[in-house]
Amino acid sequence: MPDGTQDKERAAPCAPGHVAVIMDGNGRWAQSRGRPRLFGHHAGARRVREIVEACPDLGVKYLTVFAFSTENWKRTQTEVAGLMSLFRRYITKEARALCDEGVRVRFIGDRVRLDSKLISLMDELEQMTEHNDRVHLTIAINYGSRDEVSRAIKRLAKDVATGQLSPEDVTETTLTRYLDTHVLPDPDLVIRTSGEARISNFLLWQSAYAEYEFIDTLWPDFTREVFTRLVGSYGKRERRFGAVSL
Ligand code: FPP
Repeated sequence: MPDGTQDKERAAPCAPGHVAVIMDGNGRWAQSRGRPRLFGHHAGARRVREIVEACPDLGVKYLTVFAFSTENWKRTQTEVAGLMSLFRRYITKEARALCDEGVRVRFIGDRVRLDSKLISLMDELEQMTEHNDRVHLTIAINYGSRDEVSRAIKRLAKDVATGQLSPEDVTETTLTRYLDTHVLPDPDLVIRTSGEARISNFLLWQSAYAEYEFIDTLWPDFTREVFTRLVGSYGKRERRFGAVSL
């Protein structure tokens, strides 16, 4: 694939530069086919590549996907182990292609509960793609907004305690610098699939002014065409960020 220059020139003026996706519905998709839930997660993982590949043409520079939440540990041991194994396989299998396609991959979330093999694969993929700039794919694993903000405040409080930061200097911008997402712009559009209209602890701080799309499609059925339609309708919305239209 070429570098991102042409894509930037082609980008629609009103494209959502950062799209975040809550990929819901894998379990129901599998169950409706009489298959185990993990079958749905595998189908869902394949969709991620299709959506990443669609981003440059649509003017989407940043794509952030919610792969595993801090609450997902409550699922059965079989499903959790299956998902962790899927993440390891996904990184191993997709690394070369993602890198060659100019995708920069980052992970957000707390790594403490993840196994050491998965952590090394995540580190390697981040390093391998760190010079890419065509699309920025961020994968949230063991991520929860409240957990992220708590971890950020803990680090910030330590800096205050050691005198590296004064309490008077704590502003919205300061806190943002301590978040896992500190290098990412705020999401412009948040999509949730599968008909549920909730945010489930995903990018709460960052999405304060995002536009939302809740759609009935289950994640494994979420095609490039559906994504293109949602990005197109975003372009017709008026974002006022608390101001009034002129
Ligand atoms: C929610 O659907 C989905 C998840 C908890 C896992 C998401 C994981 C993937 C799409 C695959 C891995 C992705 C990458 C980037 C490697 P659900 O299981 O809650 O579905 P349900 O509501 O129908 O039960």
